[in-house]
Amino acid sequence: MADLFSLKNRVVLLTGASRGLGRDMALTLAGAGATVLCAGRTVKELEATARAIARKGGKAHVVPLDITDEDAVRAQVRAIIRKHRRIDVLVNNAGVIHRQDIVDTETADFRKVIETDLIGQFVLSREVGRHMLAREYGRIVNISSVMAILGRASVAGYVAAKHGLVGLTKNLAAEYGPHVTANAIAPGYIRTELNIPLQRNKDFNAMLEQRTAAQRWGKPEDLRGALLLLASDAGAYITGHTLVVDGGLTTILA
Ligand SMILES: NC(=O)c1ccc[n+]([C@@H]2O[C@H](COP(=O)([O-])OP(=O)(O)OC[C@H]3O[C@@H](n4cnc5c(N)ncnc54)[C@H](OP(=O)(O)O)[C@@H]3O)[C@@H](O)[C@H]2O)c1
Repeated sequence: MADLFSLKNRVVLLTGASRGLGRDMALTLAGAGATVLCAGRTVKELEATARAIARKGGKAHVVPLDITDEDAVRAQVRAIIRKHRRIDVLVNNAGVIHRQDIVDTETADFRKVIETDLIGQFVLSREVGRHMLAREYGRIVNISSVMAILGRASVAGYVAAKHGLVGLTKNLAAEYGPHVTANAIAPGYIRTELNIPLQRNKDFNAMLEQRTAAQRWGKPEDLRGALLLLASDAGAYITGHTLVVDGGLTTILA
């Protein structure tokens, strides 16, 4: 049964592989046998991820990329296909957040979140998708959030983008079948640099522990099962779906 979740001989393009959830995803995908193309802007951190994979006997390459630079995305996708012959799996994980109430938020700050958390995913899914459709194989996994289900004060751009990403995922599924699947993962709160202000907030911690059935913050490794399911042949008949991995946060009205 382990073969069902294997990524042996698969080439995976993973954005945001430099730190946080993406770093753990890179190690997970490589551990399942994939060659992981680690994309992001901070080359030093990407190199550290690639080294960690190599230390465990896995395969990884660094792909310097700002996903909001459309020309760079086009050029990198072309270069990857020239070098590696294919992209089997695209994991759109890179993302940013901007914390400010709507009345104080500049349009440019709202726009930056939409550019990074929604439009970048559209451009990558289009460029990689053309290639996957021609090859008649592909898995796209978009990292959304529980902020695609709930609203929350002070993160309007993030909430809008993550809701949009769930919609985009459904449309990718509608247009890319039958051989290419597109799904999303909606993680709950997992300790990374993205949410340091919340980790330091006593009230927030108490609320999270009370509202989640799991009674704790998530850990990056809590996403591994969902990622491998949607990235491998195990997920062949799952498409357009958003898999919530939140310890019960959005199912419980506490
Ligand atoms: N942590 C959570 O609780 C949580 C919950 C739900 C959803 N998520 C989502 O999970 C994903 C990863 O979050 P995280 O918590 O791991 O955040 P993180 O630690 O801040 O990491 C964000 C990653 O995105 C990359 N990135 C940001 N802007 C980019 C750009 N323009 N081009 C390329 N890469 C870019 C960063 O690399 P560079 O800065 O080096 O480019 C970094 O690798 C995000 O989409 C986030 O919204 C996180």
